Amino acid sequence: MRSHYCGQLRASHIGETVTLCGWVDRRRDHGGVIFVDLRDRTGIVQVVSDPERTPTSYPQADGLRNEYVVKISGRVTQRPEVSLNSRIATGDVEIYADQIEILNAVRKQLPFQVSRAEDEPVREELRLKYRYLDLRRERMSRNLQLRHNLIKTVRRFLEDTEGFMEVETPILTRSTPEGARDYLVPSRVNPSEWYALPQSPQLFKQLLMVSGCDRYYQVARCFRDEDLRAERQPEFTQLDMEMSFMTQEEILHLNERLVCHILKTMKGIEVPMPFPRLTYAEAMSRYGSDKPDTRFELELVDVSDVVKNSGFKVFADAVNKGGMVKILPIPNGNDVISNVRIKPGGDLFKEATDMGARGLAYIRVRDSGEIDTIGAIKDNLSDEQQQEILKRTGAQPGHLLLFAAGDTVTVNKTLDRLRQCLGQELGLIDPDRINLLWVTDFPMFEWNPDEKRLEALHHPFTAPHPDDLDDLKTARAQAYDLVYNGVEAGGGSVRIFQPEVQTKVFELIGLSEEEAQNKFGFFVEAFDYGAPPHGGIAYGIDRWVMLLSGEESIRDVIAFPKTQQARCLLTNAPSGVDDRQLKELHVASTYKPKPLKDAAGA
Ligand code: AMO
Repeated sequence: MRSHYCGQLRASHIGETVTLCGWVDRRRDHGGVIFVDLRDRTGIVQVVSDPERTPTSYPQADGLRNEYVVKISGRVTQRPEVSLNSRIATGDVEIYADQIEILNAVRKQLPFQVSRAEDEPVREELRLKYRYLDLRRERMSRNLQLRHNLIKTVRRFLEDTEGFMEVETPILTRSTPEGARDYLVPSRVNPSEWYALPQSPQLFKQLLMVSGCDRYYQVARCFRDEDLRAERQPEFTQLDMEMSFMTQEEILHLNERLVCHILKTMKGIEVPMPFPRLTYAEAMSRYGSDKPDTRFELELVDVSDVVKNSGFKVFADAVNKGGMVKILPIPNGNDVISNVRIKPGGDLFKEATDMGARGLAYIRVRDSGEIDTIGAIKDNLSDEQQQEILKRTGAQPGHLLLFAAGDTVTVNKTLDRLRQCLGQELGLIDPDRINLLWVTDFPMFEWNPDEKRLEALHHPFTAPHPDDLDDLKTARAQAYDLVYNGVEAGGGSVRIFQPEVQTKVFELIGLSEEEAQNKFGFFVEAFDYGAPPHGGIAYGIDRWVMLLSGEESIRDVIAFPKTQQARCLLTNAPSGVDDRQLKELHVASTYKPKPLKDAAGA
């Protein structure tokens, strides 16, 4: 139907007759001369029609409205000097339309304007309901293209340079233990039995190593029924990889080559190898997070030993109960951050309490060098203790020191949150900078206080550090995460490949022999038939596209995403189903809608 795409036309095409198809981005009538911005996936080109030069197309041009689908033929012409447009790639030319054919009209009022020229903010619910219109918009179409380019780049590199093979793994499967709730699918032919949608292809990719596949990858859809956030979706896509006969070092190096190739191809950025590394213990101690944003400094300082025997009960109790007292030192914070913000009712106070802190103590070092602090510190910490704190935090005139005291988890979460807020607010983050970081040596297990049992921190197939085999409970794991500007962009591990170690790990996380056999018997059995040493990693592709495009929400890089309530507003899924279908599936709902409150509000 067409000879060119709109966005392809340049001065070199002047004089040619072309046929274009696309959508009317905008139609303007300038005193009888009609200008149409014609849009397709590649961009926009200006089409002109007037009664004198193009009488054959004028009546149709006059009838065009935004988002009509049209086919236009005409000559590519040099634009007059005054209307050259350097903001678009086709800005040197325009098409004098000899023919305009309306392929389809818009029969309803558009719920929002698609054209970038309108640039109106549109509610996300509306965008998601009419996603096909939203995806016509320049920003979204660019994001989809970027996503496609990323996946293409990865495929080419893994297949052509590193010898990986893509293998598809099942979607209707058994539960994979990645720590979230499963999406379940009832089986019609096996009454009362259920498939689980994969949280990741973990078990299958390991079995592929036992099969001799050697280097597997997959652009894999994963499903996790968990609380949604800006960087989480219930169904998302992983770049999933597994390799045999490779040490952790070799796996990390291969992945550095992959990541460097992606950044070079997609952004033209050269990232030096090897990437910096932090152990989990270091990351938690210095940043209070296992995915620190290392584009800016602001490191935490532990002062538990200094305040442990002080008369300030809140501090002393925190340490003596096994917790800690840590400080976030903020250079120039004294001027910028008022007391109102860190006392009850203040925004930073709220950030801290949202993370579980009970309050925020502080020390200010005035420009004169004088110290100003809360009464409890003044009265209960000796001069030596206060001086030691200043020394340890490197406090200078202008510094504000924010304290968090309590259990380790809460203290780290609080100061990590404040560090991130202030990093943004104080302009310490260069948005053009890309910081990549491996976090390694995660603990094998963490304590789940609700279930009163150890839980695998990564997943229970992760191999312990060879130096820590004597006490698996406290062992470090051969696990690693790739952190990209403070976002967990990928994670993986070297796997257990000896059945006896696997059995021990199941035991430690409280799986009885019977449960382990029932859930993972098929998997562990495979390891008795000659399993190679292996390991792997999975990256969140959606998160990568989000980071590469500079979007703040994962929903803006997925063609048809779900809302925070896990709904698809376009198709209205999830939805009720016929009783007949439920019957066939041997399923009955136990859901009882909550009774409405009576008028008196009882
Ligand atoms: P993990 O659970 O760490 O590891 O997931 C790997 C990566 O997937 C991304 N990710 C998500 N992205 C969007 N929405 C979500 N709900 C979501 N959950 C995770 C993150 C994360 O780093 N099988 C292991 C990998 C392995 O051991 O090889 C796994 O799935 O970027």
